[in-house]
Amino acid sequence: MSKKLIIAIDGYSSTGKSTLARELAINLGYIYVDSGAMYRAVTLDGITKGLISSTKFNDHALISSVRKLKIEFKKSNQGFTNLFIDGNKIDDQIRSINVSRLVSKVAALSEIRSFLVKQQRKIGLNKGIVMDGRDIGTVVFPNADLKIFMTASVEIRAMRRYKELIVTDNNINFEDIIENINSRDYEDSNREHSPLYRAKDAKVLDNSDLSQEKQLIKVMGWINNLEK
Ligand code: CDP
Repeated sequence: MSKKLIIAIDGYSSTGKSTLARELAINLGYIYVDSGAMYRAVTLDGITKGLISSTKFNDHALISSVRKLKIEFKKSNQGFTNLFIDGNKIDDQIRSINVSRLVSKVAALSEIRSFLVKQQRKIGLNKGIVMDGRDIGTVVFPNADLKIFMTASVEIRAMRRYKELIVTDNNINFEDIIENINSRDYEDSNREHSPLYRAKDAKVLDNSDLSQEKQLIKVMGWINNLEK
C-alpha cells in the first residue's frame, strides 16, 4: 500500500497491543509509538522525585514537573524503541508493578493527558504510524485510517504479563498482576477524561485464542482491504 496510514490500537491492559503494534510497524515500515509508555514515564518521574507514592499524591507538583520533562523515543532494533526522560533510558523501570499501581491515577489527570496528547499528535503528523493506548482511536486520532480495539480473557492477559515480568523480578506474584489488571481496567474505563471505550468504527480483536502469527495475518488482511 503506497498511501501512509494512521493505525490506532486501543484496548484493555496486557492484551498484547504493543506486540501487535510493533509487528505491524515492522511489516509496513512505519513508526511505532507506545503511548502507555509515556504515561508510565511521567509516573516514574513523579515517584523518583517523591511527588507520588502509595500514600501521597501531589498532583499540582506532578503537573508542573511534567511540563518541564523531555520525553523522547529513539529507535533501537527490530521495531523496538527506547524511551528516555531527560536523557535517561527508562524502559525497564517503567514496567515495574510500582509504576503499574500508580499510572492510572496519573493518567486520569486532564492536564497530564493534554500535555501528552499534544506530543502524540505531533509525532503522527506525517502519518505512517502505529500508536497503541486507551484513547488513540477516540481522542488522539479520531480520523485514524484503521482502528482496532483489543481484548482477551483476564487470565490469559495476566499470564502473559507474568511471563514478561518474571524475567527481571523473581518476587512477582500472579495474584498481584490479576489485581492490577482488574483495577487499571476499571479506572481506565470509568475516568472522567478520555475513558477507555471502543470507538464505533473500531474493529474488535479478541486474541484469547489467537497466535501472534494469526493475529498479524488477520490485521494485515484488514489493512489490505482498506485499499479496495
Ligand atoms: O501495557 P499495558 O496495556 O498494561 O498498559 P500501558 O499501555 O503501558 O498503559 C499504562 C496505563 O497508562 C494505562 O493503564 C492507562 O491508565 C494509561 N494510558 C492512558 O490513559 N492512555 C493511553 N493512551 C495509554 C495509556
